[in-house]
Amino acid sequence: MVNPEKLLIERLAPAFAQVAGTPVDPSIRRGRHADFQCDGALGLGRRLSRDAREVAADVLRRARLDDLCPTARVAGPGFIELDLDPVRLGTLLAGIAADPRLGVPRTDRPETVLVDYSGPNTAKEMHVGHLRSTIIGDAAVRILEWQGHTVLRRNHLGDWGTPFGMLIEHLLDVGEAEAAHELSVGDLTGFYQSARRAFDADEAFRERSRKRVVALQAGDPTTLRLWHVLVAGSKAYFTAVYTRLGVRLTEEDFFGESHYNDRLPSVLAELAEAGLLRESGGAQCVFPDGFTNREGEPLPLIVRKSDGGFNYAATDLAALRQRVREAGATRLLYVIGAPQREHLEMVFATARSMGWLASPTRVEHVDFGYVLGDDGRILRTRAGASIKLGDLLDEAVTRARAVIAGSPDLDADTRAAVARAVGIGAVKYGDLSADRRKDYRFDYDRMLAFDGNTAPYLQYARVRSLSILRRAGVETPGVGVVPILGEPAERELALRLLALPEVIQEVGASLEFHRLTRYLFGLAGAFTTFFERCPVLRADSGIRDSRLALCDLTARTLALGLDLLGIEAPDRM
Ligand code: ARG
Repeated sequence: MVNPEKLLIERLAPAFAQVAGTPVDPSIRRGRHADFQCDGALGLGRRLSRDAREVAADVLRRARLDDLCPTARVAGPGFIELDLDPVRLGTLLAGIAADPRLGVPRTDRPETVLVDYSGPNTAKEMHVGHLRSTIIGDAAVRILEWQGHTVLRRNHLGDWGTPFGMLIEHLLDVGEAEAAHELSVGDLTGFYQSARRAFDADEAFRERSRKRVVALQAGDPTTLRLWHVLVAGSKAYFTAVYTRLGVRLTEEDFFGESHYNDRLPSVLAELAEAGLLRESGGAQCVFPDGFTNREGEPLPLIVRKSDGGFNYAATDLAALRQRVREAGATRLLYVIGAPQREHLEMVFATARSMGWLASPTRVEHVDFGYVLGDDGRILRTRAGASIKLGDLLDEAVTRARAVIAGSPDLDADTRAAVARAVGIGAVKYGDLSADRRKDYRFDYDRMLAFDGNTAPYLQYARVRSLSILRRAGVETPGVGVVPILGEPAERELALRLLALPEVIQEVGASLEFHRLTRYLFGLAGAFTTFFERCPVLRADSGIRDSRLALCDLTARTLALGLDLLGIEAPDRM
């Protein structure tokens, strides 16, 4: 599938090469005074010590552009301004309209990509950091699958370790059935905190807890069964949250820390064999190059604690090795908050020294900042407790219901479904539209606003376009229609529609979803302008068909874009 930029590069690059004697990047971008602007002559002029305008004119003389940009011209200090021939533009648009993928090619280098995301901890409330990871990770899964990669989802649940001694003893005190219930309905904080209180207050409980950890690690069957009750209850709760969020994680994607237990000794053995292990204070450590503490001393990555227990780092090393060697992933994405950067980099550095990350295999920390409340601090309830995710989503949906209250012609079921799509969509979009590396402020009013870079705004733009199509009563708008692009607002909309493939490709590589939201926001804005300036239903038949085709393509592009972000697009609202 061709996009205008690629076409222009194809035509201009040979001309530049002739003028320069070597290949030159024509450097094409959207222009202010023309559809596109080519800046390549500026740099080349400097390099050849020639006037850039002359160079640009030279390039234009050699480039074959008559059919594509008949009015191509030199401007300013040596730009080339390029307006696409409207008929050509219409043909390009008809091409993507006829393509179910809207011009987005499948990758020609499909690979197995593994996405580690969500990762909540058993018997603990999922916090907003886990929510961010879940939302960003799910968007990554969707876009990579859409591009044609094989995607492995991994929910690295914290389901093993010392707290389980205390949790299991508390489970026994509460009674199994009661505990399982508490956990599966999501009262994880309550459960964890009571366990913690008993642990802090009662020496006998502490002693039981310690013995329980030993029994768990030794694989004692009763202990394992109780552990399983804890894990199953929490998993049921997490699954309910995922279903509610509409993310693609299912129990099949749950590979908790415990999954790697059997592999831990052999990881340790391999590290030892490679000579990477050193003892420090009774613990077995790796000291990867380049990591030091504030005093400048080498920083240890502790693999086995002095009490003989394995830890988070050991599990991450085992998981990484399994993912590469057994699952065959060549691109590994870790969607984890920025505070774990050092931990991950140390794990990655160790894996590199072990040869587990040999080319073409590579790993990326898809990092993100904190979620902040109104006060600019980490989001919490007014009482200072961590927020229950269920409550947060409930509130978004309740508020969304109020926002859509102005659409009286929806029946009760539709209204409830729309409120869900808008409320959950707004939360996801709010997250994805912020540069993920920065902290972002959680603000219901802002994310639910109908006028702004929000999910409801995009959802509504699509609904408007569908409603025109419905009123026009055409079954297959756009089939066989080559849009006529006479008005500036039509051209602008067309150029934006044609830019989708590029954006998808860029975002699939960078996993910077705010670039996709920015694109969709710009598209919806161009559609709004088009809608205000260009009558559709009242236009003469040729123009009418052409404009209906533009409406249809806009609606499809918005739906696809939102879907790749994991956001539902209701047909009415
Ligand atoms: N359970 C961890 C936490 O809550 C996140 C797990 C992230 N994934 C990983 N492979 N370390 O911080």
